[in-house]
Amino acid sequence: MAGITKHKRLLAWIDEMTQLCQPERVHVCDGSQAEYDALCQQLVEGGTFLKLTKRENSFLARSDPRDVARVEDRTFICSLSKNDAGPTNNWMDPKEMKAKLTADFTGCMKGRTMYVVPFSMGPLGSHIAQLGVQVTDSAYAAVNMRIMTRMGQGALDVLGEHGDFVPCLHSVGRPLSAGEKDAAWPCNPDKITIAHFPETREIWSFGSGYGGNALLGKKCLALRIASAMGRDQGWLAEHMLIVGVENPHGERSYVAAAFPSACGKTNFAMMVPPQGMEGWKIFTVGDDIAWIKPGKDGKLYAINPEAGFFGVAPGTGRKTNPNAIDTLHKDCIFTNVALTDDGDVWWEGLTDEKPAHVIDWKGNDWTPMSTTPAAHPNSRFTAPASQCPSIDPRWEDPSGVPIAAFIFGGRMSKDMPLVFQAFNWSHGVYLAATMGSEATAAAVGQAAMRRDPMAMLPFCGYNMADYWSHWLNVGRRIPNPPRIFRVNWFRKNENGKFMWPGFGENMRVLRWILDRVQGKGYAVESPLGWMPRHEDLSWEGLEYDKNKFYELMGVGREAGAAEARAHEELFDKFFDRLPKELIYERELMRSRLWRSPDHWELAHEGD
Ligand code: OXD
Ligand code: MN
Repeated sequence: MAGITKHKRLLAWIDEMTQLCQPERVHVCDGSQAEYDALCQQLVEGGTFLKLTKRENSFLARSDPRDVARVEDRTFICSLSKNDAGPTNNWMDPKEMKAKLTADFTGCMKGRTMYVVPFSMGPLGSHIAQLGVQVTDSAYAAVNMRIMTRMGQGALDVLGEHGDFVPCLHSVGRPLSAGEKDAAWPCNPDKITIAHFPETREIWSFGSGYGGNALLGKKCLALRIASAMGRDQGWLAEHMLIVGVENPHGERSYVAAAFPSACGKTNFAMMVPPQGMEGWKIFTVGDDIAWIKPGKDGKLYAINPEAGFFGVAPGTGRKTNPNAIDTLHKDCIFTNVALTDDGDVWWEGLTDEKPAHVIDWKGNDWTPMSTTPAAHPNSRFTAPASQCPSIDPRWEDPSGVPIAAFIFGGRMSKDMPLVFQAFNWSHGVYLAATMGSEATAAAVGQAAMRRDPMAMLPFCGYNMADYWSHWLNVGRRIPNPPRIFRVNWFRKNENGKFMWPGFGENMRVLRWILDRVQGKGYAVESPLGWMPRHEDLSWEGLEYDKNKFYELMGVGREAGAAEARAHEELFDKFFDRLPKELIYERELMRSRLWRSPDHWELAHEGD
């Protein structure tokens, strides 16, 4: 081991973890192709992976049906004080949590290999990047980490002898006794615990092998721990995609957008402009997480800390996201999707026509007559970002890309317009903080409709009220902060049909957003914020009735007042730490609503 690194704290920690977990052997990952291939082969032999015959160097894994998503009610922020975790996080005293987990981790890797996975979140050596080292008994986690992060020797080189890293301890929690046959997907569902220690910057995850529970660079480090780092160091770690938008003159602006899990972030990040907007282009920097730091010039610069996409498969198809489909042609890992008879993958939404027969995500025969889905609704692909046809040439720029606008959007079937702009930064923070969203499949045990501030509810590593104060401060400290927008692609009419086509058509909204940022776009003042009129959006190539547009943009006074009451309920939870600006913004919204007609419509203003 000492030959691989001379970093004393790292060596001591690996030693300590080896003694605690008692693996049969230790393997320090170098991140090479040969190592990746050997681990994948080993996963095939152990029954975890099935090699796809129709897709180059790609694999299918089927998880234990009890281990299929993040487990929010078993996720903890173990800060010294409970109030520092805040009312939206589960909390346990760090000493108590470590005592409990030390018991679970003792001997938990018996009969298994402990992989030591050094990784960088962000381009190697970027001043915005951070290093982590995950020890894990899951080869599945190790190979996924190689796609999702800059993993291996390169990260160790940047770490050097004295660099800082976040220690990430992970086990599937299933020690093997001598001669015992391993499960294809070992896990310990009854004991899943994902614990974060924000003060000491540590992560301990036990019992699950799935996604965000096991790939600790992603939600655990890049969001929960990094958000606490950002609070202390003056930057932002956000649940945001980053895209470059290029106009027909070749001018590119970058935008970061926060949508709750499974609300189409990957589709938005790889969007293909619709018919009628051919001169426009979208470039992908990231699809899930953004780390954003103020630059010396007073602008905010963002990097994507990840190196791959861990996307929700269902709903991803050639029509909805051709760039994702082209990203997936080789070197991918698929988890909990269906297997076709000719050795390829399939999921709901991949093709219009369903295959006549597949093996579903549980390993059973499935036909279009089956009453259960072929792919689990939270099934995933893990794919290298470099394979994405729309990847931005600056996606690995260590200094990041300058952010011109922030977009926030929940999944709301009623009472929330397609798009509007905040009046100013603190109003924007208010709009983001009060974002509501209806349930998706990315997490188990999630309420039907919940407030998901900045899409960070499951990912903020400290008290959400302090996080709002931090956002307010970030805007205050720079001369000309990015403009903030709210969007909602998911409004439905009284027949339950989506009112907005979504996907590529969202480009029309994005174009208006950029016009606004550049001081070109027109808008009228509404009780909620600045709104475009029908004529302010570009409609070439899409028939979208003016009246329907105003219906999509309408705000009922009663509904608006009910929103304000719900915001009050949300804020009440944070009474002692709530920034006063947010109360002020709520009262301003109330008074704007009372001054407006019963049902405020843009048509009143524009025509
Ligand atoms: C994700 C999530 O996996 O948000 O990106 O759950
Ligand atoms: Mn996400």
